[in-house]
Amino acid sequence: MKRKLAVLMTGAMVMATLAGCGGSEATPAAAPAAAEEAPAAEEAPAADEEAPAAEEAEAPAASGDTISVGFAQVGHESDWRAANTQNYQDTFSAANGYELSFVDADNDNAVQLEAVRGFIQQEVDYICIAPIETAGWDTVLQEAQDAGIPVLIVDRSVDADASLYETQIGCDMVAEGETAGNWLAEYLDGGDAKILVIEGTVGASATLGRTEGFNNIVGQHSEWEVLDSQSGDFTQAGGQEVMESFIKSYSDFNVVVCQNDNEAYGAMDAMDAAGITYGVDGDVIIISFDATHDGLQYTLDGKINCNVECNPLQAGFAADVIQKLQAGDAIDAQTIVTDEAFVAPGITSQYAVTMTQEVLDGRAY
Ligand code: AHR
Repeated sequence: MKRKLAVLMTGAMVMATLAGCGGSEATPAAAPAAAEEAPAAEEAPAADEEAPAAEEAEAPAASGDTISVGFAQVGHESDWRAANTQNYQDTFSAANGYELSFVDADNDNAVQLEAVRGFIQQEVDYICIAPIETAGWDTVLQEAQDAGIPVLIVDRSVDADASLYETQIGCDMVAEGETAGNWLAEYLDGGDAKILVIEGTVGASATLGRTEGFNNIVGQHSEWEVLDSQSGDFTQAGGQEVMESFIKSYSDFNVVVCQNDNEAYGAMDAMDAAGITYGVDGDVIIISFDATHDGLQYTLDGKINCNVECNPLQAGFAADVIQKLQAGDAIDAQTIVTDEAFVAPGITSQYAVTMTQEVLDGRAY
């Protein structure tokens, strides 16, 4: 069943909340002892990492004092985002020794910048930013640094000077795009592709990376053609609108790449309305990204052919970094959260896991 877009905040579009109010059922675990962990090399990117288990991720403040964290979140555009927000609220809970000030920027850059400035005025201990766009961050990051507040860039990346923030934590979006392209090449096995791409938010590193990665593989296939590529803003409504417009402009296409699951739901609605079949038994191959629970249900049902994961459970990595900074330990300049890809039943791939009910049942988001 399709999920409606999760609206995390009611009333005002932007609202700071204390995460503890949401109520975490997690049991606090002991803070990792500094002596037990070999400090990672400063500046060296970490190897790909699995999300820490909840009990590891949710250690209370090492000092016993509450640590205040401001989180400037992108918005509530997708199921992925809802899962990511919930993960931050569960991890940075009062029970775990944190006071989280959360701002949903509703995909508005100006609001997100003001949120960060608000956190600086509030004199929080740490700031986490999931940047809507890569550009435009130097000034406010400098302001945070001048105020002595460490900043963690999470989920997406920025093109600012890396000395202005402590670390970046997120998935490798270029690799995700390449996985999608490599899977398509394997599936088509030399066959032609007339491709329509529904991109994510303009200027977001998730969009830029997935586009770059996919295009890297397109460039290796002269039998492929990208007919068009338009932004659906990572929303179901955006995906539907772009697909409706594609259907008006193009009568001959056999691949639709949706840069997240919600866009794929919208694209499927548009194709249903136009009588276009898709998925393993249809005329159009659908590739999606995120591999959220509902996206994987569609993959299991054979409606989405290939779904490339982007793991939203990233807050534990941010908590680990904060605990290390509290303890005065070295941290990694970058943490890459690992992803898998999934394909519909009947498809086997060296790049992806074939979906089963068991895989879906094990999905936590
Ligand atoms: O930055 C991660 C992307 O942002 C996810 O793919 C998408 O669903 C979200 O909105």
